[in-house]
Amino acid sequence: MPTVLITGGHGGIGLECSKHLAAHYRTNLLLAGRSLERIEPVASELARTYGVKANTLELDTSSLESVRAAATRCHALLDDGTVDHLQAILCNAGARIQGVNYSVDGYEETFATNHLGHFLLLELLIDRVVDNGRVVFTASGTHDPETVDGKLVGAAVEPNALMLANDGKEGRKPTSAGKRYSTSKLCNVLTAYELDRRLRRSGSAITSIAFDPGSTAGTGFLRAMPWPVRWLSTTAFFKQFQKRLGITMGSMEFSGISLARLGADPVFAGCSGKYLQSNDGHLIETRSSAMSYDEERALKLWNDSKLLVHLQPAEESTLLR
Ligand SMILES: NC(=O)c1ccc[n+]([C@@H]2O[C@H](COP(=O)([O-])OP(=O)(O)OC[C@H]3O[C@@H](n4cnc5c(N)ncnc54)[C@H](OP(=O)(O)O)[C@@H]3O)[C@@H](O)[C@H]2O)c1
Repeated sequence: MPTVLITGGHGGIGLECSKHLAAHYRTNLLLAGRSLERIEPVASELARTYGVKANTLELDTSSLESVRAAATRCHALLDDGTVDHLQAILCNAGARIQGVNYSVDGYEETFATNHLGHFLLLELLIDRVVDNGRVVFTASGTHDPETVDGKLVGAAVEPNALMLANDGKEGRKPTSAGKRYSTSKLCNVLTAYELDRRLRRSGSAITSIAFDPGSTAGTGFLRAMPWPVRWLSTTAFFKQFQKRLGITMGSMEFSGISLARLGADPVFAGCSGKYLQSNDGHLIETRSSAMSYDEERALKLWNDSKLLVHLQPAEESTLLR
């Protein structure tokens, strides 16, 4: 049976996705995340409920060492047959981090968690994805400063990897949490499109998609917010209010199902280099921000990301050169 590797597949949108992948597409799962204590009970439950294999992978996307160790472990699991062929990698883990923190590698944590870790993971594992496989990035509508989502959270800034990684250092005023988040999600969209261009150039049939799940209440996403904010976000009143404002509306179940469909449904095989959005019960292809289509910026982001993750020549996939 094909296997789908999903980061953050044990909670929120990712868990709904994992359930749908197992139940509807009968795929095995490789759940990757930073706490095996949190992931293993979920993996066991999914395996029991749906009769699929659900393996786990310790992976902290904010740490380059952890990503490298996880990739090595994933290769070993594939080599010894514990994990069947890799059908898709879903880069879904992400966080909006309130204060300015730096990762163990010294990079701003939002950027490291949401962009750099997934970038490195793909370089290290793309060669193991089957020919007609998928890569999906859970981005966010907040990446687009022209949308209400983007305006409310904070307009994305220039996606300059070296600046973003060193945000707030040497006495510079740090970018706000909202802007750091929306910019990291712009990096996801730019990377999805650049990955598509590289895969096409190398003759690969792997599909690379950017996905916006829409504003989705009830996940762990607002965990750093005070409880009244978390409670309010789940009320019908607030959902109505968001809808009237024109915010893209997800739901945990529909956004998770949408991510699973993008990862496994043959219908989306032709959507490489596209942006799909879950909004009010519909999964539709739409335009991402104007800046996300800038190929020069995407190329610079890719090359600078390679420097930041210290990508070694032996690690670089021939598919992505
Ligand atoms: N909810 C929304 O309104 C919304 C809207 C647009 C986009 N998104 C995006 O959707 C994705 C899923 O978010 P969600 O709403 O389902 O929130 P969530 O329940 O908090 O899920 C996020 C997942 O990412 C994992 N994660 C966070 N930091 C990590 C790290 N350093 N290493 C590995 N895993 C890490 C979390 O694992 P732990 O258990 O270890 O924390 C969790 O499983 C994210 O990329 C988010 O940016 C969400």
